[in-house]
Amino acid sequence: MSEQNTIRAPRIAAITGGGSGIGEAVVHRLAQAGCRVAILDIQLEKAKALAGQLNAQRADCALAVSLDVSDVQSVDAAFRAIESHWNAGVDVLVNSAGIMPVASVLECPPEMFRKAMDVNVVGTFACSQRAARGMVERRFGRIVNLASISSERAGVGRVAYGTSKTAIVGLTRQFAMELGSFGVTVNAVAPGPILTPMTEKNYTPQTRQAFESSIPAKRMGTTQEIADAIVYLCSDGAAYVNGIMMPVDGGYLASGIATTAGLKA
Ligand SMILES: NC(=O)c1ccc[n+]([C@@H]2O[C@H](COP(=O)([O-])OP(=O)(O)OC[C@H]3O[C@@H](n4cnc5c(N)ncnc54)[C@H](O)[C@@H]3O)[C@@H](O)[C@H]2O)c1
Repeated sequence: MSEQNTIRAPRIAAITGGGSGIGEAVVHRLAQAGCRVAILDIQLEKAKALAGQLNAQRADCALAVSLDVSDVQSVDAAFRAIESHWNAGVDVLVNSAGIMPVASVLECPPEMFRKAMDVNVVGTFACSQRAARGMVERRFGRIVNLASISSERAGVGRVAYGTSKTAIVGLTRQFAMELGSFGVTVNAVAPGPILTPMTEKNYTPQTRQAFESSIPAKRMGTTQEIADAIVYLCSDGAAYVNGIMMPVDGGYLASGIATTAGLKA
């Protein structure tokens, strides 16, 4: 990795959903890169446990903050808590908080659809807007949103989740366009299937098998592989990358039919 592709420390990074899964892996990677990490999660106990572990390695490098991304007042209170703790604003924001409700198009209750929108889309919007105000003032910022392969491909039972993840791609472009001239980049990473508490709950062995056979890499991804891509987008060297959706999916979105005239992938 070149010098440019590192993160100038000490930067302050806020990771929503930082207590679990992909967010947790990002917390570890950004802390290793020398950032101070604010671990924001609705599951405060998980965030506290992780902060305690990191602070034992490097004093005051981590802060656990309770946050419900779908509540604008909670978002403001969480950012205030970070600003007063370190007496500085957030330079890097990773929006990893999310939920994956599953229901068919014929049966999805409107409240379930609305909740997916509130947490995944309004939550990403509210945290990004709150963080971006300070980033624009300081003329530096990195925001990374969690899109998904479901942003681009429909899946059975994913009307609420998939629609919310498609919206994340649009939101990313809107923010990128308006903030780019202030040294603030806004990008999205679209993970393929990754084993985390979210997918453990929702994937049957058949779902997993269907993914593994259709992904060119023939396997699910790891939280570290997603965190590595996110950390690149947070680095100084990624200053000219703005408004993209980067698939990190073992080739899933690139792939099509797996057999032609007797040839097989
Ligand atoms: N795991 C995958 O295969 C996969 C694939 C594509 C995209 N993603 C996206 O990556 C992100 C992280 O997913 P994950 O698999 O690590 O899930 P996860 O369930 O392990 O982690 C999600 C975290 O978000 C937190 N959270 C949920 N609602 C919240 C709220 N209202 N306010 C604050 N925090 C809240 C949870 O407490 C949890 O700690 C999500 O946005 C998800 O859609 C995951």
